[in-house]
Amino acid sequence: MKEKTRVREVLAAPAAGARYVVKGWVRTVRVGKEVAFIALNDGSCLASLQVVATPALANYEEVSRSGTGAALEVSGTLAASPAAGQRYELQAEEITITGAADEAYPLQKKRHSFEYLRTIAHLRPRSNTFGAVFRVRSSLAQAIHRFFAERGFLYVHTPIITASDCEGAGELFRVTTLDLAHPPLVAGEVDYAGDFFGQATGLTVSGQLEGELFAMAFSDIYTFGPTFRAENSNTSRHAAEFWMIEPEIAFADLAADAALAEEFFRYLCRHVLDHCGEDLAFFNEHIDRGLIERIGNVADSAFAMMEYSEAVERLKRAPVAFEFPVEWGLDLQAEHERYLTEQVVGGPVFIVNYPKEIKAFYMRQNDDGRTVAAMDLLVPKVGEIIGGSQREERLDLLTTRMEEVGIAPADLWWYLDTRRWGSCPHAGFGLGFERLIMYLTGMENIRDVIPFPRTPRHAEF
Ligand code: 4AD
Ligand code: MG
Repeated sequence: MKEKTRVREVLAAPAAGARYVVKGWVRTVRVGKEVAFIALNDGSCLASLQVVATPALANYEEVSRSGTGAALEVSGTLAASPAAGQRYELQAEEITITGAADEAYPLQKKRHSFEYLRTIAHLRPRSNTFGAVFRVRSSLAQAIHRFFAERGFLYVHTPIITASDCEGAGELFRVTTLDLAHPPLVAGEVDYAGDFFGQATGLTVSGQLEGELFAMAFSDIYTFGPTFRAENSNTSRHAAEFWMIEPEIAFADLAADAALAEEFFRYLCRHVLDHCGEDLAFFNEHIDRGLIERIGNVADSAFAMMEYSEAVERLKRAPVAFEFPVEWGLDLQAEHERYLTEQVVGGPVFIVNYPKEIKAFYMRQNDDGRTVAAMDLLVPKVGEIIGGSQREERLDLLTTRMEEVGIAPADLWWYLDTRRWGSCPHAGFGLGFERLIMYLTGMENIRDVIPFPRTPRHAEF
């Protein structure tokens, strides 16, 4: 096979007269008199390369009929383009059609709705919007690793199959090899003693608990992996399978945790501005006008911080009729989060010190006896994007709290051991990767920023 050059490289440093082999998929074909113009895209960048075919090609007839979606290998010479629309074009000397595509190919030129494109999730990566989404997603994943590597964090792979429900919300997907038609029963309950792991297990909802164990050895660690929640909420920001980045830092309090979250978030804003310019310009023009300006502002400015109690006061005073009630002690709903970040603050805001009743068992209890050292970062358009806390490092308080909320300390003996030996103040947070991508692209539905979304009743491909 001839060695190819990616379209991105051809366009990055175009040299008229240079010979290239490019390989990709036809976006459009325009047939003129004795000439065909083919827009060829190989996914390396948003732009397609204009390929010019003439009857000098042995298979010109076939090439000029090759439709949108066909795969071509083209050898040719780069030349300045006389026509508007592109500066360079590839004058083809040889074209091989490796895979034809006929009119039944679903991604013809016209604009499709995102709803329709979800039904062809196997083909949508070949569209402009999804090409841009998944390039940004890939670039961000690498930037995340770089951020932590630059700061000496250890990357730890926490397990996907687990016996503990970290968040305690009962959203674990069950993992079992039991015969579901004839499960072993003891007193009417499924007996997991005979199951593969000898106990009930599920898919992890968070790598935090295991992450904490590693922070107690390596000081600063992070996880970046898939998490699963059997949460039957059909919203535009919840998926049953999503990716989460969870740093955990030892010898750190809530203030240090928030400082890390802010530095991290602003780093990622700066990253897309500096490295994903072409795709961002596309989103700014077609998806969300003002996107680039908004990201630029966030990259350059300090984040606000507000006590939960103050947030509740602000919401009560708001001249808005919320669907859900606002009362000290109740959790904030998406509509409340968005009001706070969009109307009250006009930018990212940390809400800190939530009532202990609405937060997970592991959060550190504040001296007031009714709140915990929790923080959520809220951002415009998305709402909660980061959730984190300082952890309860005091064995007695942690054990008592677990008993209060009905978690048997014996089941998490290994977690409690970190408080028995060498305990220290520590903190961490989780950033939802898909929500980050939504925020940085302006895409409004989580189903459109993950390659193959898993949501209630949807797992076909
Ligand atoms: O607030 P959450 O539930 O926090 C935790 O899981 C902690 N263990 C994190 C930690 O302290 N290490 O989830 C963290 C973030 C949320 O802020 C949100 O961005 C995202 O994960 N998230 C989801 N994203 C998509 N779909 C869902 N169903 C999500 N649930 C949470
Ligand atoms: Mg949360």
